[in-house]
Parts: sequence; structure tokens; C-alpha cells
Amino acid sequence: MSDFEEHGPLSALAEPAERDVESTLRPRRMSEFVGQPRVREQLELVLRGAQMRGQPPDHVLLSGPPGLGKTSLSMIIAAELGSAIRITSGPALERAGDLAAMLSNLVEGDVLFIDEIHRIARPAEEMLYLAMEDFRVDVVVGKGPGATSIPLEIAPFTLVGATTRSGSLTGPLRDRFGFTGHMEFYSPEELEQVLNRSAAILGIDLPGDGAAEIARRSRGTPRIANRLLRRVRDYAEVRANGSISTDVARAALAVYDVDELGLDRLDRAVLNALVRSFNGGPVGVATLAVAVGEEPTTVEEVCEPFLVRAGMLARTPRGRVATAAAWHHMGLTPPEHAPGEPPATAYGR
Ligand SMILES: Nc1ncnc2c1ncn2[C@@H]1O[C@H](COP(=O)(O)OP(=O)(O)O)[C@@H](O)[C@H]1O
Ligand SMILES: [Mg+2]
Repeated sequence: MSDFEEHGPLSALAEPAERDVESTLRPRRMSEFVGQPRVREQLELVLRGAQMRGQPPDHVLLSGPPGLGKTSLSMIIAAELGSAIRITSGPALERAGDLAAMLSNLVEGDVLFIDEIHRIARPAEEMLYLAMEDFRVDVVVGKGPGATSIPLEIAPFTLVGATTRSGSLTGPLRDRFGFTGHMEFYSPEELEQVLNRSAAILGIDLPGDGAAEIARRSRGTPRIANRLLRRVRDYAEVRANGSISTDVARAALAVYDVDELGLDRLDRAVLNALVRSFNGGPVGVATLAVAVGEEPTTVEEVCEPFLVRAGMLARTPRGRVATAAAWHHMGLTPPEHAPGEPPATAYGR
């Protein structure tokens, strides 16, 4: 079973087969990067300031749910600096030696991009501290009492880390980033801009109403918007005249089982479990994850941020609770108040 079948068209995670089309659609410069006005402004200051001083900018951490543009923005940082970018990921840096090799190949001003940096192995992380702070690493040669540590200079570089989980970064690592950009979900208007740009690149006829319909159901996520655009295009070409009108968009999205709010299979499973099995909560995230057959981290990092933002789920000290909107969305009437929760907190009234 492919990942696509497993996660469906609304998954915020990139499927291996769509990496090529994703790279075609990736914004290359800051001016093409839609939305995120706050992060963009802050980052532009960080980059310009460093450029004016003739130094590599501070290390940058980008945090936020999948599909919001962290990888794209990392590449844009390098492009704006006119620097080369070296790309790796936390899980690929299993041994400190892997990281030492990467670091020692850097040229002054390079951008080193570490995706999923929260998954970096401990020894590599410790090596990174010194590299980030002093542009130096200590390479240990030999084993046991005869082992010696050889200091190795590395060229001043800028580390850009991306994470879906800034909370699980260790304090020392987090502290070594000079700037953290928190990526937010996109508004429907911003997603319309993303869609119009993608439609132009892919040669798709996308009138405004069709774009609005897709944008509204894209879960605040550009990756999903672009994927739905490609699926709706299939429908428009096979069953209509190729143009994505509102009606065509609606009919296509119905075929793909995309709900009115763009909630995906996992979102709905979580809400369903929350209201039907746990009577609205509060319930711990681990229990909730077992109920939907997913990893707690997936529920927490991929699913919950959007449900919270959509006003469907609230995180309380005693666990997750469904809001009244969640009950209604699942076609049920909310109880007078959630078990053990005063209505004010449970329903956010
Ligand atoms: N701000 C944006 N403007 C335009 N397109 C975007 C933007 N953010 C993301 N995208 C699109 O979404 C896709 C996924 O973005 P990506 O940077 O890989 O997200 P992340 O690394 O956060 O998972 C990109 O290929 C790009 O087409
Ligand atoms: Mg990415």
C-alpha cells in the first residue's frame, strides 16, 4: 500500500511520488512566498541585518505543522543570501561522524538545513552545540584510554533547522538558535494565492470561484491546496471541459471525500473517537491515539494543531476535549456540559 493510499489526499505529509511536483511548485524567492507576514518580516530583518554587517546570519529555527512551507522557506533563505544550501535531516544524522563530515565540508556562508531536527541523535546534537556556537567540532579519534579529541575548525555557516515539534527540542539546542519562526496555518485568501500561482505554473484553468472553493477546504495548508488542485484538475479534464468552476470543484471534492471544512480522515477519526467513545473528553492524547490507531506524535503534531485552530478541540490540563462545534460537525448534539468540565472551558464559550 502506498503512503498516498494510507494517508489520503488530505494528508499534510508529502508523499514520495509527489516530491517532483512539489519542487516545481516551490516558491524560490521571498517575493513568491505567500502569507506568513510575521515570519517573513522578522526573517527579512535577520537576513538584511547580517548582510549589512557582512556576516552569516544567526541560526534559524522554523517550527510548525507539516506542509506550511518550512522546507521552502529554508531554501529561500539560502537563495536570498546567495549561499549554497546543504540539506540533511535529524534521522539521517545517527552518528556524530555523519554530522562531522557534513560540517567539515561547509564553505563560509553556507546554509546547512537540518529537517526534522528534533529527531537528531544525542551525540550528533552535542557536536552541533559547539559547531553552532564556536564553529568548531571536537572529533574523537580512537577508543578507550588512548582516544584523543582533535579540534576541527569549521567555516562560519548558518544552520536552519525545521521541526514540527519545537517543544521536544532540548533547551540547549533551542537556545542556540538566534531566531525562531513559528509558521501559522494559512487563511483561505492566502491559499487562493498559492492555488493561483500553482495553476499558472501547471497550466490549469482555475477561475476565482473554483480557487476559493478549493482554498476553503485545504486545511490551512499549501501542500494540501496544491494536492487538491491536482485532483480537481483530473476531474475537470475527465468529466468536464477542463475548467475548474465552483460546481466542478465541489463535485470533485465530493468524489475525494473532502469534507466542508477540509478535515481529513484522521481529523475525523479523532473527533469521532472523542465525541462517540469518550463522550467529549477529557481524554489523554495517548488514549486518543490508540483509539484511532495512530502514533500519539502524529495525532499531536499533524492532527491537533488544525483541530485546535478550527475550534473543534481544546487542550486542557486533564486532556483533550471536544468543543460544541465538534459535536455539531459530527452531526451530534453536544451534552449540557462535558463530563467533569465546566461548560466555559469545555466549549470555549
Ligand atoms: N508560502 C507558500 N507559498 C507558496 N507555496 C507554498 C508556500 N508554503 C508551502 N508551499 C507549497 O507547499 C509545498 C510544501 O511546502 P514545504 O515547504 O515542503 O512544507 P514543510 O517543509 O513545512 O512540510 C511546497 O512544495 C509549495 O508548493
Ligand atoms: Mg519539509
